[in-house]
Amino acid sequence: MEIKSIHIAYQEFNSIEELNQTEQKLAYKAIEAQQNSYAPYSNFNVGAAVLMKDGQIICGSNQENAAYPSGLCAERTALFAAGSLDKNSSIEAIALVGGENLSICEEPISPCGACRQVMAEYEMRSNKPLIILLIGKNKIKRFEKVQDLLPLIFNSLKIN
Ligand code: THU
Repeated sequence: MEIKSIHIAYQEFNSIEELNQTEQKLAYKAIEAQQNSYAPYSNFNVGAAVLMKDGQIICGSNQENAAYPSGLCAERTALFAAGSLDKNSSIEAIALVGGENLSICEEPISPCGACRQVMAEYEMRSNKPLIILLIGKNKIKRFEKVQDLLPLIFNSLKIN
């Protein structure tokens, strides 16, 4: 028996202004998108913005429903919208922000497992690392690839 470990690295910033111009814009778009969140059941509003290869930014927010499982997270709303717009365009980055009653959490929110799995699929389709920006009030976490948020990803397309 051998004990193995997995190392995960990410960058941490204190403000959006420390990011490069493109990523700053993406972060602000996610904050804007949070305004369109529909979350009357949880009162937790999430905004996401996806950067496509051609420079387009597609936004999404969590959309809840009286029949709870029918709702969808902000990340998947944005990713599926981007994927539906152009099946051939790759997705380069996603920014995410959330908080109760339209606030922004101090500690950046982290995507749920289902959203990580969906990100992994888009990353694999794009054939390049997908950058993930988790935006908190005074803390930003930047991951360079989905593997860093979802180690040992399930990927049926890799099975021969
Ligand atoms: N939510 C997201 O939009 N993204 C996540 O990664 C986690 C949770 C939403 C789902 C639900 O509408 C609300 O946040 C509370 O869980």
